[in-house]
Amino acid sequence: MRISVFGTGYVGLVTGACLSDVGHHVTCVDVDTAKVDGLKNGIIPIYEPGLEEIVLRNQREGRLQFTVDAVDAVTSADVIFIAVGTPSGEDGSADLRYVLAVASSVGEAMNSYKLVVDKSTVPVGTADKVRQTISDVLASRNEKIDFDVCSNPEFLKEGAAIEDFVRPARIVVGSEPGRDRVEPLMREVYGPFCRNHDKMIFMSTRSAELTKYAANAMLATKISFMNEMANIAERVGADIEHVRLGIGSDPRIGYHFIYPGCGYGGSCFPKDVRALTSTASELGYRAPILTAVQAVNEAQKEVLFRKLENAFDGDLAGRKIAVWGLAFKPNTDDMREAPSRVLLDALWNAGATAIVYDPVASAECQRIFGDRDDLIYANDRMAAVEGADALVICTEWKEFRVVDLDALKNALKTPVLVDGRNLYDPEAMRQTGLLYFAIGRGDSLANPGGGA
Ligand SMILES: NC(=O)c1ccc[n+]([C@@H]2O[C@H](COP(=O)([O-])OP(=O)(O)OC[C@H]3O[C@@H](n4cnc5c(N)ncnc54)[C@H](O)[C@@H]3O)[C@@H](O)[C@H]2O)c1
Repeated sequence: MRISVFGTGYVGLVTGACLSDVGHHVTCVDVDTAKVDGLKNGIIPIYEPGLEEIVLRNQREGRLQFTVDAVDAVTSADVIFIAVGTPSGEDGSADLRYVLAVASSVGEAMNSYKLVVDKSTVPVGTADKVRQTISDVLASRNEKIDFDVCSNPEFLKEGAAIEDFVRPARIVVGSEPGRDRVEPLMREVYGPFCRNHDKMIFMSTRSAELTKYAANAMLATKISFMNEMANIAERVGADIEHVRLGIGSDPRIGYHFIYPGCGYGGSCFPKDVRALTSTASELGYRAPILTAVQAVNEAQKEVLFRKLENAFDGDLAGRKIAVWGLAFKPNTDDMREAPSRVLLDALWNAGATAIVYDPVASAECQRIFGDRDDLIYANDRMAAVEGADALVICTEWKEFRVVDLDALKNALKTPVLVDGRNLYDPEAMRQTGLLYFAIGRGDSLANPGGGA
């Protein structure tokens, strides 16, 4: 099939690359000229395991190309994916300007039947707006060309995006009744990903649009719920890690997504929970669960700094604090709404210097914060802690799981470790003589004030 994908971000680039890898001819379009120029020269703008190899192979074999020419991308394709950003607007609702700009471009260039597939995460009713925008532009051109719009939300996870795309748990497609071309075309697009069994679930566009928000809201709720339990555990002297095992073993609950930590971040959960809350409130429904999920998360992002502050009796001025992990989660360089950003801001406000180490996100950090005297980049994890007053862990990168505790204690000026991901055994920490402050673990309580 001939497919065009608008947007070469995490979703668009992965979609384009994976669709070309199964034999479709794919054109990826972006308005960002520098990004497209880079991609034409084999420069992948994001860190995503396995992506570079797939992009380069399919480029070389002529099935994947990059362009800024929207007209060519529309006229040459049978199926057009919209995978542009839908950031939060000022009121928390999703900003649809990029999605509707693509809809206009499609209407302006359309020369024959097209299936327009909305892959961006968009509020319920957006497919109708995309359809209307294309119809209006066609009408202004005095053109009557048949087309369809369907919703095909993306569920991939950054850091495992390729695996999620090629082996999806489900492929949701929303379309309108009576539009008979949608299902066979979408089955042709995704057939190669359903060889083992049919993963496609067809429903109305509104149901498909809500499915994406419901999935992210459920996952965010699990995280905030566990963080709330961790905060209670800390106060009652329980260990949340034992509680996690105790509840996860119940098959009705399960072990997935019940890790306590320093709050969820990234490009999706925060903005999607906000957008769904906003949709509900526009319709007169207050959505108390979603509101609470966000409030718990905002507060949780401040927990690391509070623990650190407690350990140093409220005075961090002039201290050097090592930070392991900047990305909002492992295997990505994405720092959008990352807990590390809340910590860094708080450290700087308190007059401390951050010595940061992340296996891949340093360049992104530099792009966000620029050069500043109170932000120092270390080349490896031990270089970050050498001579620092304390270590804070924000991201659970694999390379942080096993550390030489004696070497860590010797490198730190004061033996304070604030662990936002509960990576270590509190007993081993105690034996080494490290003051260990984790999330929702009894040990945090055993050392009130820290004594550093
Ligand atoms: N990142 C994820 O993990 C993820 C997962 C599932 C769904 N989503 C959703 O997918 C959508 C895209 O997310 P992302 O993370 O890939 O975004 P992104 O910000 O990484 O990329 C968006 C790209 O769209 C381009 N763009 C903007 N306007 C354009 C236009 N008119 N024509 C062509 N390109 C244009 C931008 O230049 C940018 O390169 C969002 O709605 C997001 O919520 C994201």
